[in-house]
Amino acid sequence: MEESFMQRNATCGQLRKEDEGKTVILNGWVHKNRNHGALHFINLRDRYGETQVVVEDDADKETQETASKLKMEYCVAVKGIVRKRPDNMINEDMETGEIEVKAEKIEILSECATLPFMIDDENSAREDLRLKYRFLDLRTTGMQKRIRLRHEIVKAIREFFYKTDFYEIETPTLVKSTPEGARDFLVPSRIYPGKFFALPQSPQLYKQILMVSGFDKYFQIARCYRDEDPRGDRQLEFTQLDIEMSFVKRDDVLLLIEDLFNYVFKNVVGVKIPAHFKRLTYQEAMDKYGTDKPDLRFDLLINDASQFASKSSFNAFTETLSAGGTVRYIVAPKTEGHEYTRKYLAELESAAKIYGAKGLAWMKVDEGKLSGGVSKYFAGLEEEVLSATGAKDGDVILLVAHENAKKCANSLAAVRNKLGADLHLIDENSFAFCWIIDFPLFEYNEDEGHWEAAHHMFSMPQVEYLDTLESDPGAVKGDLYDLVLNGYELASGSIRIHDIELQKRIFRICNFPDDVAQERFGFLLDAFKFGPPPHGGIAPGIDRLCMIIAKQQSIKEVIAFPKNTAALCPMDDCPSEVDQKQLDELGLAVVKKKD
Ligand code: AMO
Repeated sequence: MEESFMQRNATCGQLRKEDEGKTVILNGWVHKNRNHGALHFINLRDRYGETQVVVEDDADKETQETASKLKMEYCVAVKGIVRKRPDNMINEDMETGEIEVKAEKIEILSECATLPFMIDDENSAREDLRLKYRFLDLRTTGMQKRIRLRHEIVKAIREFFYKTDFYEIETPTLVKSTPEGARDFLVPSRIYPGKFFALPQSPQLYKQILMVSGFDKYFQIARCYRDEDPRGDRQLEFTQLDIEMSFVKRDDVLLLIEDLFNYVFKNVVGVKIPAHFKRLTYQEAMDKYGTDKPDLRFDLLINDASQFASKSSFNAFTETLSAGGTVRYIVAPKTEGHEYTRKYLAELESAAKIYGAKGLAWMKVDEGKLSGGVSKYFAGLEEEVLSATGAKDGDVILLVAHENAKKCANSLAAVRNKLGADLHLIDENSFAFCWIIDFPLFEYNEDEGHWEAAHHMFSMPQVEYLDTLESDPGAVKGDLYDLVLNGYELASGSIRIHDIELQKRIFRICNFPDDVAQERFGFLLDAFKFGPPPHGGIAPGIDRLCMIIAKQQSIKEVIAFPKNTAALCPMDDCPSEVDQKQLDELGLAVVKKKD
């Protein structure tokens, strides 16, 4: 049967000077199109690259005519002969820049409507336009590279696991709604009106049950769904590399992940990362960096100011301290080409205020003396302040006082991150991994007035706290660990509880009395009656990993079809209304919210 179109026998990224003289057929999109009289230069693009096609005045009439009809992003087939470009015409910027294809025949495979934006990398189209026409946005070099990078990363992860004795096992995406932290997405059951499935927030309980079933090493590239507000590193649906192992202790999990990331970074990024990652306890991370997600690509440590702040005459400091609060500081270093103007200090203050600081106090060091800001309250304390902080001429001491230690720390962490970026303290090509260990097991939920799990309710308390779980939940540390990369939480995991009575105690502390826990998590508790092994695991976020490797600020840049910041998909317009018939089948009625 004759072919319905001229089918390619080469790609647009493939041809080199060694191919001179070959007759080729290329299929692709018109990326650039320039006419010089009867001479047409067409850059044809596909996933593999770009090739220059030339239509010269000796081309037949039909080819000339087709060439003059071509517009941007038409999909075309070109048959022609590869020829070397003269030395002075070689285009070093194009991988195929040594050659061009002299067209003998051009076939328009499909036309392209007026473009909403140009397909190039300096895509300045606003985000919603990019997402509405995602099929065009995905044609840009940047998106093409990032989707490829994501493919390479996932491929390397699978390669790594296929070399081990892990099983890849799928878990369901229609599951029981269990409170796991975020809000569930619910799926109504047609067969059982009034009942709902949930989309999994993670395969957490299923992977633990797989351990009970004896599949002692499991991994899955798993889709997860959480009904929360999207932001830079969060989407409603995202992908985890989910891992669980039996008969392991914490360090077995950490070592596996270190090996995995060494493999991925060596093979995909071409970068050697440390064989083992730095470890910080949660408390060390909070004390030194003000956050449990410290960016270790730069130093700038946060410190306690209470020694000298308590002696100052600044009421905001002394009152906060006597009320049991904290005052902490960071020294912003003198930096060539950077001025600590009032405007800039106000910007730093705004960054701190997002995390609860009431203000950002400051003092400059000028010719060995403190000046400006709150310096007048430190009369007589100058030497003590300078020696405690180590601040030098041109530096600025930035201080936050807060009755809540976490808010104080987080506010200064925001200041630290802004300084890191603005003072160019960060080597954008570096990857700073670190483990955060010894997290608190519980957090107090002020709004609801009870303790809840800081991570999830299945994490093991450290053994020395087993007797004081109920009497002092706030002091309990868990066998929990996070992996942080360049200031992002990349992965989270824990050694799990495998003792039914201990699990019930944790449920009770988290406000799930036995009957409620049985109703919600009965299947896990039932499984735990049948010889559960000690087990533990972790789940790195694939979107965040790809985002960081691709040096992007948003995971949308590494997801083919993400939702926008308003939690919508502008391309297919979901979520959307459904027919009354569909609602009737499900026994659902929509109650319109009053404005
Ligand atoms: P956790 O909820 O911490 O742990 O998630 C693990 C990792 O998944 C990524 N992640 C996200 N990525 C994009 N958008 C989101 N909304 C989002 N939420 C989380 C992050 C995060 O570190 N079951 C446990 C893991 C375990 O204990 O094994 C869990 O889901 O990179």
